[in-house]
Amino acid sequence: MSAVRETAGARAVPELELVGVEKIFETKRATTHALTAIDLTIEREEFIAIIGQSGCGKTTLLRILAGLVKPSEGAVRAEGRSLWDGAVLDTETVNKLGIVFQDPNLFPWYSVEDNIALPLKLRGVDRKARRARAHELCELVGLKGFERAYPRELSGGMRQRTAIARALSYRPAVLLLDEPFGALDAMTRERMNLELQSIAAATRATVVLVTHSINEAVFLADRIVLLSPRPGRVRSITRVPFPRPRELDLETQPEFQDIVRELRHQLDEDA
Ligand SMILES: Nc1ncnc2c1ncn2[C@@H]1O[C@H](COP(=O)(O)OP(=O)(O)OP(=O)(O)O)[C@@H](O)[C@H]1O
Ligand SMILES: [Mg+2]
Repeated sequence: MSAVRETAGARAVPELELVGVEKIFETKRATTHALTAIDLTIEREEFIAIIGQSGCGKTTLLRILAGLVKPSEGAVRAEGRSLWDGAVLDTETVNKLGIVFQDPNLFPWYSVEDNIALPLKLRGVDRKARRARAHELCELVGLKGFERAYPRELSGGMRQRTAIARALSYRPAVLLLDEPFGALDAMTRERMNLELQSIAAATRATVVLVTHSINEAVFLADRIVLLSPRPGRVRSITRVPFPRPRELDLETQPEFQDIVRELRHQLDEDA
C-alpha cells in the first residue's frame, strides 16, 4: 500500500473511528432514533462484520462510515481525519472508500470491464490504464473471460463480483459491504465468502461487512459487532480467533458453532 498508509500505520491511527455517534432521522411523518452512543474503532486491515435485527441501524451505520449519511451527533474519522467539517464532507477521504450495496447497481448497457472501470473514468484515468486495471480485477474476482459480457449475461454471483471489482478499482483502503450476498443461493454464497476472504488478503483492505448471516460473520470476521434493536447500540463485540486462510469445513468445528450459538442467543434475547 501507499507510503501515506504506512505512515498512518506507524502512528497507529485507527482506520475508522466512530465516537458518540447518534442518528435521528426526521421525516414529515416520523422521527426515528436509528443509532445511539456508537463508539467503534476499526484497525487497519481488520475485517469487521456487523450483525443485528432488521431495522436496527446496520445500513445506517455503514452509510455513516461511507459519508453518505451525516450523524446527528458524534464524530466519524478515517485515518484520523474527520469526515465532516460542519455540514461539509471531506470528499478526498470519502473517495478512498469503496462501497458495495445489496443490489449490484450495474449499468446494463456497459460491459463488465466498463462497469468496473467507471470509477476510474470519473477520476480521469486514461482508457488504456482503465482497461488494464479492469482486466487485473476480473482475474482477482474470478471474472476472467467475461470482460466484454453485459450484466444480463451474468449470474447473480457474477454481478456481485463485478460490483466488488468496481469498488476495488481505485484501490480503496476500506471496503464497505452491505449484505452483498443476500440475494444469492447458499452454495454461491459460500464460494463468495471464500473469494471475499482472498480478495481481502490480496488487497489488504480494511473490510466492514453488514450481514444477516451469523455463519458468514463468524467465517469472515476478525471481530463481530452486534447491534441491539433500535435505537441500535453496540451490544457486544466478539473476537473470532480462527487463523487464516479459513476453509469452509471450519463451520463444522465445535469452536465455530459455539460462537454462532452465543451470537444467536444474544440476538434471540433481544427479539
Ligand atoms: N433515509 C431515512 N429516512 C428515514 N428513516 C430512515 C432512513 N434510513 C433509515 N431509516 C430508519 O432507520 C432505521 C434503521 O434502518 P437501517 O436501514 O439502518 O436498518 P438495517 O439494520 O440495515 O435493517 P435491515 O437489516 O432490514 O437492512 C429504520 O427504522 C429505518 O426506517
Ligand atoms: Mg440494511
